[in-house]
Amino acid sequence: MYFGVDYHPEHWVYPYAGTPEDPESRWLRDAELMVAAGVNVVRMGEFAWGLYEPEEGKYDFEWMGRAMDVMGRHNIQVVLGTPTAAPPLWLTKKHPEILPLDERGLRQHEGTRHAYCLNNDTFWEYSKRIVTALAKALGSHSQLIAWQIDNGIGGHTTEFSFNVETRRDWHAWLKAKYETIQRLNDCMGTRFWSQTVTDWDQIPMPMIAPTAHNPSLVMDWMRFSSDTIVAFVKMQVDLLHELTPNARVTTNLRALSRHFDHFDVAAVLDFVSLDSYATIKSKSSENAMDIDMMRSLKKTDIKTPDGEEGFWVIEQKAGQVHWQEVNSLVRPGVVRLFTYQLISRGVTGVLYFFWRQPRIGSEKFYGGVLTHDGRGDNRVYREISQIGEEIKLLGPVLQGTKVVAETCILISHENAWTHKLPFQQNKFFKLRDHILLFYSALHDRNIPVDFVRPSEDLSKYKLVIAPSLHILGGGEADLLKLYVQNGGTLVSTCNTSLVDEHHIAPDTGFPGNLTDLFGLEVLEFDPQPPGEENHLTFKGAFPTSHLHPAKLWCDVIEPKECQALATYAKDFYAGRAAMTMNTFGLGKAIYIGTMSHQPFYYDLVVWLRQLCNLFPLLKVPDTVEVSMRQKDESKIYFLLNHQNSPVRIQFYKPMHDFLTGNTFQGNYDLPPHGVLVLDEQAVKT
Ligand code: GAL
Repeated sequence: MYFGVDYHPEHWVYPYAGTPEDPESRWLRDAELMVAAGVNVVRMGEFAWGLYEPEEGKYDFEWMGRAMDVMGRHNIQVVLGTPTAAPPLWLTKKHPEILPLDERGLRQHEGTRHAYCLNNDTFWEYSKRIVTALAKALGSHSQLIAWQIDNGIGGHTTEFSFNVETRRDWHAWLKAKYETIQRLNDCMGTRFWSQTVTDWDQIPMPMIAPTAHNPSLVMDWMRFSSDTIVAFVKMQVDLLHELTPNARVTTNLRALSRHFDHFDVAAVLDFVSLDSYATIKSKSSENAMDIDMMRSLKKTDIKTPDGEEGFWVIEQKAGQVHWQEVNSLVRPGVVRLFTYQLISRGVTGVLYFFWRQPRIGSEKFYGGVLTHDGRGDNRVYREISQIGEEIKLLGPVLQGTKVVAETCILISHENAWTHKLPFQQNKFFKLRDHILLFYSALHDRNIPVDFVRPSEDLSKYKLVIAPSLHILGGGEADLLKLYVQNGGTLVSTCNTSLVDEHHIAPDTGFPGNLTDLFGLEVLEFDPQPPGEENHLTFKGAFPTSHLHPAKLWCDVIEPKECQALATYAKDFYAGRAAMTMNTFGLGKAIYIGTMSHQPFYYDLVVWLRQLCNLFPLLKVPDTVEVSMRQKDESKIYFLLNHQNSPVRIQFYKPMHDFLTGNTFQGNYDLPPHGVLVLDEQAVKT
């Protein structure tokens, strides 16, 4: 398994380290400390363009070659970043048209990073040149195992630009999609507010305007901007595959927080990498959800450097961040806990950001493995070294193991974008919160979950949950029907299929194209202000532990063939169905016309578990997170205590812990932030 750090050798030369006589001498000490911590891989060079090419066409890759040699002498492999995230100043001085224009048409200036328009041909040309020169200079170095494209693409809200070249590409993109102006006008509904066009040139980019742009146009703009990012990444991937066929290619993504389609980017990469900000989140299920989303971006055709079918965390924060209002220290043991949370959910490479807190630049008080003094006797270095030791034990045990899920949650970026458009039915109704309610209920009951796009094959899942799929294409609706028809169980909710892929509302009833699947029609929907609640009254076998509210959104449902599982308790729709189930073909389609509080989703999971024959991984107290990686018959369980206090676990059979070599039976107190990695094989003996 790969275990390492993000290293910036360019920060650690004289006058910041080393000596005038031997300016790079610190690199050796760094490599020694890395080896002592169990490091076997570093990522380097993601912002080094200005140092690689200090003047146009004058390249200097030798210093990086020397840094790689030092790593080589210590048996440390290297991932090199392509440096396009930080174009050099001479380039933007010479070609200011590279700089992006924002939605007001104002130029974003040079002097930091990501100051580029991805539709600009000149920027593409220079990017190709530096990537080619880099690959030719260092691509055959023995230590190189992978490339990271750019860095944090789309970061600092640079997913969009409004340059002349962007307008040109936007029009070409629309032309390729719609072919005729007539079709564009029809699909976009441009006759609303007199927006019809007679020429491609007239189609606006959604720049600052008196009020909201046509949602159909904005959705296309999001798709177009996303395609632009994918094309830029793919351009680099293709170049690198051609020049260095043995090196794998990745890029560092954040868990779906940026405005481009991460699934599409993942499709052009060999493997996915994640920047993890676990340290700043409060709910363990929220972290877990981010990790599961990232694992789910690429389900097939995964090519990591060591052949594992996993994904990497290429920036796992080693300590506090520096951009919150208060950047508290990450408590002892918590970086270790989060590292295991990542590994338990399928990560096969862990790199910490960053090796040492830099003495220069704007990130100098960000947490690092080493502190500024670089001595290697600090708390975090010791914690990372402990993990390094443990990884040496675990690597062989985890080899070839994967996370397997029988439940999935449907998500799509398109849907997330529609939820962010202005003029929502209820601005307090948040898609991510809705997804998290379902996810947390499954997570807290130790049921593994994948995330899947509605256009993917669902047949391997026993249970599919589809929260608030506001936008749903006709083809996607057909796939949902096929899944249920063949015996699947689907749970959908309010705010589903209110518009089709062109953002046009159906005239055949809600949810569009799915009224037959659910055996009902949603006649009206009644968004509720925060603090106001209706209540659910349950019928039949649905187990309820609490009085469950109906919040934020209440569908007024006209049941047809479906059976009502719950009704509303008050208002003019009192007694009408709020939750239903319909038999469709061999499967079941469940519809929840409202949003409730977390305990409702716990009850729902208890009921669905029986309905779908799903089993929790292990029976432990709720506060212990359990995940599993498996290979054939071998099952490795991870138990994580996210609490500040010990949790008592009862083992009914002897369990073998890989980290300590101990076998547990009966009561065991998992310490605060403690981790167990257990083998099921031992349970059987
Ligand atoms: C990452 C980025 C790093 C660093 C970090 C700070 O997304 O890749 O270079 O800036 O954010 O949070």
